[in-house]
Amino acid sequence: MRHIVYAMDISTLFAQLQGKCLQLLNQPQPLDRNLRSICRLLQENVPHYDWVGIYWALYGESPELVLGPYAGAPTEHTRIAFGQGICGQAAERQATFVVQDVAAEQNYLSCSLLVKSEIVVPILQGGKVIGELDIDSHTPAPFMEEDRGLLEWLAAEIASRTQGLPLGLQE
Ligand code: SME
Repeated sequence: MRHIVYAMDISTLFAQLQGKCLQLLNQPQPLDRNLRSICRLLQENVPHYDWVGIYWALYGESPELVLGPYAGAPTEHTRIAFGQGICGQAAERQATFVVQDVAAEQNYLSCSLLVKSEIVVPILQGGKVIGELDIDSHTPAPFMEEDRGLLEWLAAEIASRTQGLPLGLQE
C-alpha cells in the first residue's frame, strides 16, 4: 500500500519511463553512460525510488557484486559477496527479491536509516547473474507488480546489450 501521491497513474508513468529508458539505451555512447542516465531518470521520476543503482557480478575466487552506475547518495557497499545482504541473496537465488520492510530482514546491509524497503532484480544472461538492479526506498512497502514488471523488463534490455562488454567497479 503506497502512502504517497503520484502526479499520474503509475502504469502511465511507468509506460512513459519505459519509452525513455529505451531511448537512453539506444544512445550511441558507452553503455555505462547510458545506464547512469537511466538510474538518474528513474530516481528523479519515481517518487518511491530514492536510490537506483546497478551492481555487476564479478566471478573471482568467490563471486561478488561490484557497484556500477547509480543515482542517489554514495554508498559504502561497493563490493558485496554473493549471499550477503539483500543484493547477495538475490544473486544466489537468481530471482527478484522484494523486501517491503528492511527492518524485518536479518540479512540486510544498511546504507541509511532512511531506507525502509528495497527491491533487487538480477540481470541474467544465459542462466547466469551478470549484474543486478537495486532500488532503495524511503517509503514503507511501496513495491507492486508494476515495479517488478518495469525493472525485470529493464534488466532483460540491459542483459541483451552487455554481451562481451567489460563491466567494472566505479567508486
Ligand atoms: N541494502 C543492500 C546493500 C546495497 S545498498 O542498498 C545500495 C543489501 O542489503 O544488499
